[in-house]
Amino acid sequence: MRSFLEIDDLTKSELHRVLDLCLDPNPPKVLENQGIALIFEKPSNRTRNSMEMAAYQLGGHPVYIKGEELGFDKRESVEDAVATLSSYYKCISARVFDHKTLERMATLGLCPIVNLLSDAGHPMQALADVITLVEEFGDLEGKSFAFVGDGNNVFRSFAMAAGMLGAEIRYAGPGNYRLSELDKDRLATIGVEVNEFDFAQEAVDGVNAVYTDVWTSMGQESQTEERKRAFEAFTVDADLMSVASSDAIFLHCLPAHRGEEVTEEVLDGQMSRIWRQSENRMHAARGLLAWLLGEGQDDE
Ligand code: CP
Ligand code: NVA
Repeated sequence: MRSFLEIDDLTKSELHRVLDLCLDPNPPKVLENQGIALIFEKPSNRTRNSMEMAAYQLGGHPVYIKGEELGFDKRESVEDAVATLSSYYKCISARVFDHKTLERMATLGLCPIVNLLSDAGHPMQALADVITLVEEFGDLEGKSFAFVGDGNNVFRSFAMAAGMLGAEIRYAGPGNYRLSELDKDRLATIGVEVNEFDFAQEAVDGVNAVYTDVWTSMGQESQTEERKRAFEAFTVDADLMSVASSDAIFLHCLPAHRGEEVTEEVLDGQMSRIWRQSENRMHAARGLLAWLLGEGQDDE
């Protein structure tokens, strides 16, 4: 039973196969007459809507379920809720506060589990990110990408995906907000090294893409003010973009806070690919589900 909790659940060749399927507008209808559960403990625009449309395009029926309705470990245990849902659905996907919830779901082995964002990672976003980069640059081998700001869930999954495709991964952000040593070790096991810089200009120098995300992720709202102070020097603005390569593009997973992690000029400017990136969430979702519920299960 295969699940998709993080990019490194895929081998390099499986990642390439998933990306091929993402670019196929008519992959096998692996959800024909079947359903997929979409559980959300946190809000969403892109993830919910791209997953719903992808499920429909694969012949299936998506059902949106609010986390509070299931009440994991309050109304009933995660295990009992998932045992029930797995009798209705071919696949269960979930956006959760604690990544361990997804691990508990997957350990049951009752149906494939898909991570729709946790505190640890956002692999569905990373697939869309690398599709966007491949559309722009073709082969990513030898390209360099800088992530500026919070070394968070989005960055961890992005580093894995772009790193596995052969890109150099650079990062600039404050010392306390970087990937953990555990995460860096995990990246090292798949051959990905993150080059860390103290100053954004050093990380961005000559790169092919600059990526940022909000400074305060969902669930961290009480830290908003301290984070604003910590990330003050890490706004992506036109000056910073000017030290990147002349063909460089700007990425943001959205939602964005104009004037905080990125200026309006960059987010809405010529270098920005945010709308390709957000559309690619749907193609990524379709390709990943086509692989996971088809070939991914055949491999067993
Ligand atoms: N990028 C992303 O996951 O957006 P949502 O939170 O709106 O789903
Ligand atoms: N890092 C952000 C991403 C939102 C799509 C969060 O976790 O809230």
